[in-house]
Amino acid sequence: MQVNPQQLLDDGFIILPQVVPPEQLDSLRATYETIVERQHRIWAGELDWDVPVAMDYKPKQPRVVLSAVVDAATADTVDFSLHDHTLGVSRQLMQAPDAAPVGMFLMSNPATDHGPDPWHRDVVPDRLAPLRGLQADMLANAPGYVQWNIPLYDDDVLWVVPGSHRRANTAEEERLLTENARAPLPGGVQVRLKAGDGVVYSNLILHWPSDYSTKLRRTIHLGYRSFGGALYPYDTHFYWDLGFTKHLSPASRAQFERFAQLGAQERDRIETLFRAMLAKDAATFRETLALLHPGETGRMVAVVLLSKKAAQIRALKRPEIASLPRNDRAVAVGDQRVSLYLLEDLAGRFSPEETELLWQRFAPLDARLQDATAHPTPGFQGNESRYVSNEMPANFGVDDFITGWDESA
Ligand SMILES: [Fe+2]
Repeated sequence: MQVNPQQLLDDGFIILPQVVPPEQLDSLRATYETIVERQHRIWAGELDWDVPVAMDYKPKQPRVVLSAVVDAATADTVDFSLHDHTLGVSRQLMQAPDAAPVGMFLMSNPATDHGPDPWHRDVVPDRLAPLRGLQADMLANAPGYVQWNIPLYDDDVLWVVPGSHRRANTAEEERLLTENARAPLPGGVQVRLKAGDGVVYSNLILHWPSDYSTKLRRTIHLGYRSFGGALYPYDTHFYWDLGFTKHLSPASRAQFERFAQLGAQERDRIETLFRAMLAKDAATFRETLALLHPGETGRMVAVVLLSKKAAQIRALKRPEIASLPRNDRAVAVGDQRVSLYLLEDLAGRFSPEETELLWQRFAPLDARLQDATAHPTPGFQGNESRYVSNEMPANFGVDDFITGWDESA
């Protein structure tokens, strides 16, 4: 399947017919139903499964984490995330040599009506870089992350504001979202998908889950990140680990092993970069940053994203967090239970003292990312944040960041 990457950059989303090959629709519906039933039995406490339920059960949008409940008889659900129409298209759109599924989910309907959710962009200011930085990075280098909804039954829950992935909220949007974030926005478009069609989009776009009703919903929800593209993606989690791949065919398993290797290679680079910072070795820092983010434009966004990782591994070292059970540890550092092992792998490479020193190197940047007078911006996710939601620090580039190390020990 051929797509035009420019269309995603222009509009923020692309609707594609027959992402599920028609001859596969019935069988995928059947295997997904098996998975949904299994998940409901796990949620009801009637069934133990080898992987704990990965994410909190959301009553309004019950979500199945595929890797947590798949078995050999339902492995076609995972194989579909490796299909040319999903993985292949994602790789084209991200213009990268490699792409990997970050998360493989199924969104299903709730048992009772929950109505509309708020309009939002999938941006948590505490965890990512300011929106305008993420957007500029994407527009200069191609997206490093794309997200999909692929319904197995007709689905028009999702709305988007075309083009809003390229800009901040307008003043009118701010006003309307503040009044009522659960109503149509000017220019908003309902994404009407027939069974088997798909929409692939930048999750920086203003989007709206317009109705969590009891109407049958079985919508495959996939996220992909790039590897080897021009930028460092803002979503580097895998919401899976290799354990689940024992259920897959050898060919599919080999693909996931390769994705895990690419992730491990990236963490090695991050370690090298952090160690260069500890040693105030600017040359190695620049070299490694250019490996993580080859595009010249937007490197500072990568530095901001890496500062968030440094903050997370620092938090993991705090005794009161380190001693928590895994799920609570993940929540405390803003991660997910299934992906925490990746962060802990990185954290395990540094002593508590190194982690503190690393944070001192990031502190001048972190201070510039905060604004004590900031008021909550509508359309963002997460709790009220002291971090600026829209604008990157002005006049503060990689050179300034490196110069700032001299202010620390
Ligand atoms: Fe969202």
